Amino acid sequence: MAAVAELTQYTNTAHRFSSEVSYASTRISGLRRLHLRPIKNSGIRCSVTSNEVQAAPEAVKAEEVKKKAECYGVFCLTYDLKAEEETKSWKKLVNIAVSGAAGMISNHLLFKLASGEVLGYDQPIALKLLGSGRSLQALEGVAMELEDSLFPLLREVSIGIDPYEVFQDADWALLIGAKPRGPGMERAALLDINGQIFVEQGKALNAVASRDVKVLVVGNPCNTNALICLKNAPNIPAKNFHALTRLDENRAKCQLALKAGVFYDKVSNVTIWGNHSTTQVPDFLNARINGLPVKEVIKDTKWLEEEFTNKVQTRGGVLIKKWGRSSAASTAVSIVDAMRSLVTPTPEGDWFSTGVYTTGNPYCIADDIVFSMPCRSNGDGDYELVKDVEFDDYLWNRIKTTEAELLAEKKCVAHLTGEGIAVCDLPGDTMLPGEM
Ligand code: LMR
Repeated sequence: MAAVAELTQYTNTAHRFSSEVSYASTRISGLRRLHLRPIKNSGIRCSVTSNEVQAAPEAVKAEEVKKKAECYGVFCLTYDLKAEEETKSWKKLVNIAVSGAAGMISNHLLFKLASGEVLGYDQPIALKLLGSGRSLQALEGVAMELEDSLFPLLREVSIGIDPYEVFQDADWALLIGAKPRGPGMERAALLDINGQIFVEQGKALNAVASRDVKVLVVGNPCNTNALICLKNAPNIPAKNFHALTRLDENRAKCQLALKAGVFYDKVSNVTIWGNHSTTQVPDFLNARINGLPVKEVIKDTKWLEEEFTNKVQTRGGVLIKKWGRSSAASTAVSIVDAMRSLVTPTPEGDWFSTGVYTTGNPYCIADDIVFSMPCRSNGDGDYELVKDVEFDDYLWNRIKTTEAELLAEKKCVAHLTGEGIAVCDLPGDTMLPGEM
């Protein structure tokens, strides 16, 4: 690929990086040529040609711009990397907003999103990156690296510090940015500080995002942050909000595979119940290895109840001790997994874990919290809860503990969910996995 980038300074808070373009596709000696035209107010302009193209990009004519409006502009034509298909319609651009976009998790995630491996190799995307005043320069660096990567599906990158601008028309909102718990900080204070962020982001999503936006909260404490966010976005279905517990599911699968001596693709039906904290419950009762109940394969119940459970609950903290920082790459992978699980049909008989709004759940878990549960999707972005799961005393008691923690967290943030005065009486000092 050859690329020419022309950088200009810009003044808007939400800076746009071109690639949202209009182009004409013509065949020259059997090769396709793309003409890219920066959108209005574009900060960085970039003309990209495929390596088979010899001629320089040409100016886009007015009628071509019009064509764009009629048929989703640049997406009227398939960007055919192999230059072997005839022109056909583009899929509609998917807008993905990411907060904490200058952080480590995002640094892994954004390049996966832009590559097409998440939403498909025929799905053009726009990345809308939210940072803070302090991270704006770093965000520019991120955007420049995205540009330099020449991802053909990445049509637009915008950066900014105002969620009302950045979340405009978002189809996905991946809310990664949150403040980590500092030394000596009370858990209640952490809930409050992060809660404020999610009040604002919920309101912004409510005001400007797509009505069908799917929101995945990663910033901790992610379950309660997701609850705050959805309460502040009453015009978006509560069902559309998720808290990331897929990393915990992946960790549980890995540990079960290790113990059983099988590769982890043989482990299925793993549910993480409850909070993304040390009270979370990795469910080995319903999980399967090679299609068999885990307990038939791993007969060591003591290991399952104690070592396995504890390992999964505290994996984040152990990792921080090794790395000196939170998991980033595996978190990004699990975000990808979580998104893919909503946009591809769940394999027959299997399910995935995600933290979702409990109201109407079939398990008798308290209503009105965000709780990780087993879900299936037919790939349309929506999900349904799995009904045929078993409970025994061990599992149920553990579920009650994590439920109690989430109910207590909810009371702590009542002032942020519009439910009155906060009363913060948290059961013990449970931790985020990373705080261990
Ligand atoms: C993890 O589970 O790895 C993270 O949630 C840890 C953390 O607190 O950052």
